[in-house]
Amino acid sequence: MTLDFLVTDSLHIYPVMSNPLPRPMIIDTDGGVDDALAIVMALNSDHIDLKAITVLAGNIDVHQAAKNVLRVINIVGLEAIPLVAKGCTKPLVNPPFNAAGIHGSDGLGELHQFKNADGSPRYPALTTEPSTEDAIEVILKTAEEYGNDLTIVALGPLTNIAMALEKDRTTLQKVGRIVIMGGAVKVPGNISAAAEFNFFVDPHAAQMVMESGIPLTLVGLDVAMKAPLVRSDVEAYAQKNPSQVSQFIVDCTGIYMAFYRDNEGFHGCYLHDPLAVGVAIDSSLVSTESVYMVVETDGKFTAGMSLADLRDRRDEVNSPPNVDACLEVDTERFLKLFYDLIQP
Ligand code: RIB
Ligand code: CA
Repeated sequence: MTLDFLVTDSLHIYPVMSNPLPRPMIIDTDGGVDDALAIVMALNSDHIDLKAITVLAGNIDVHQAAKNVLRVINIVGLEAIPLVAKGCTKPLVNPPFNAAGIHGSDGLGELHQFKNADGSPRYPALTTEPSTEDAIEVILKTAEEYGNDLTIVALGPLTNIAMALEKDRTTLQKVGRIVIMGGAVKVPGNISAAAEFNFFVDPHAAQMVMESGIPLTLVGLDVAMKAPLVRSDVEAYAQKNPSQVSQFIVDCTGIYMAFYRDNEGFHGCYLHDPLAVGVAIDSSLVSTESVYMVVETDGKFTAGMSLADLRDRRDEVNSPPNVDACLEVDTERFLKLFYDLIQP
């Protein structure tokens, strides 16, 4: 943070800080389409010092998810390539459950279908490989090194985070904040009437993180569904700003947005994961309420449901608030940040 200048009035002197130093960050991701858009934003942001991208099974298996992360890094084409480390291959207790039917069998909208004018693959196989380091070790090592300065942005099920808690709770509790894309407070789920996908896939991990004592910000469906990306806007953007990145965004969102056209009533998609990165960059984009939240792990109909205690007579002694839940978002300002950060 640099002190740029002082503002004074008759009584006070106000230091004005600008050009904040980039903040140490880890992105933990399950490698789907909206994850990819979020990673483009993070790679292009001057406010983020991306220490690692850790990967796990969720939208797609962990190996494909890692390939997808490397694809995004290749397309953005930065000099400094963040560490990419693979973690959990399945949830803590439940069987694996993926979203290949929504994100495509490759997790990125079946990129293999796209060809260049000469018929060559637009997205040829890459030679880069993820690190041989284990994601849980990377998370704990980074937590130890950067402590309270570190923000973890969790874009998938919370299995990696939960495993890090299990392995070395004290070290992980040093991190400043975990910004979680997951759950829902006042709106229904998406993968079921009760549950949002990331919490549905691994409710046990989500509940462990709720009990972690780490400062948590929940970027749930309440705000993600107020951050729509419309297909025609994306296509118009790519026409006006032709680049490998804008072409990739048009290509990888095709199937994902068609799912929304056929099932959610609009041709576009919600920017779940990009909004979590947006909130990690600028928390003023959202308004939050500190609530006590639990995640149902056993419900026959409600497994994965995030339940916030919104009663007037809350028992804040026995059930103290454990998460800052986002309830409103400045959609216009967020979408401006999104388009600013997908610019190469
Ligand atoms: O419910 C939306 C979340 O589930 C997003 O993170 C999406 O990528 C999927 O992981
Ligand atoms: Ca995700």
